[in-house]
Amino acid sequence: MSNTVLKVAGLTVAYGGIKAVKGVDLEVNQGELIALIGANGAGKTTTLKAITGTLPACKVDGTITYLGQPLKGSQSFQLVERRLAMVPEGRGVFTRMSIRENLMMGAYTRSDKAGIEADIDKWFSVFPRLKERAAQMAGTLSGGEQQMLAMARALMCHPTLLLLDEPSMGLSPIMVEKIFEVIRKVSSEGITILLVEQNARLALQAAHRAYVMDTGLITMTGNAADMLDDPRIKAAYLGE
Ligand SMILES: Nc1ncnc2c1ncn2[C@@H]1O[C@H](COP(=O)(O)OP(=O)(O)OP(=O)(O)O)[C@@H](O)[C@H]1O
Ligand SMILES: [Mg+2]
Repeated sequence: MSNTVLKVAGLTVAYGGIKAVKGVDLEVNQGELIALIGANGAGKTTTLKAITGTLPACKVDGTITYLGQPLKGSQSFQLVERRLAMVPEGRGVFTRMSIRENLMMGAYTRSDKAGIEADIDKWFSVFPRLKERAAQMAGTLSGGEQQMLAMARALMCHPTLLLLDEPSMGLSPIMVEKIFEVIRKVSSEGITILLVEQNARLALQAAHRAYVMDTGLITMTGNAADMLDDPRIKAAYLGE
């Protein structure tokens, strides 16, 4: 049996006349932490949105398979039922709900009340900031706090596959470290992760394998540790 969790084949996306993704192939296997890195506008977010079916009206081609089944046409609640969770760029928390309610929403497919409470406690201990503000409306949290909440909420459904779009964006250096610590830990617990990151160094240090995207195409792929040593990666993405 194949251990492929996600397979993207021949993906193209055009916004009107602009081709943002020009034929992307990528695979994420069970238990892997895969980094997708690349410059601004390379098409990374567009690729993630194509996977979750959250693109605005535009032309999409290619196939996307999740656990051997096509993803096309799935509604967002169906994705959560299939244990595919995404933390979008710019968070996407429910702004008019409290922090606790956001976490409960993340767990709506679960019925194990005690387990849900235990998970909320767990995330409150990882992010004490959220605990202090448990009853506060999520929309009034700072940007970084919303980022932490979005991550915790996505994990409340115990996803099989977690898609992360720039989880370090807008965070202070200490919080970036913390978020990466959480990403590594979640990965070590067996959750499969596709991580889009501007911070190529941190992403490559955390990932097993990586794909580099440039103007809509995958230009390089391989073992993340090898890529950290690659002179082309160093020059283009690590500022060395
Ligand atoms: N809704 C849209 N309408 C038109 N063009 C779009 C739209 N969304 C994205 N694009 C264009 O598609 C290209 C890829 O954008 P995308 O957001 O996927 O890049 P990215 O790799 O995620 O970049 P970043 O690192 O800056 O987040 C860009 O040139 C962008 O301007
Ligand atoms: Mg993006």
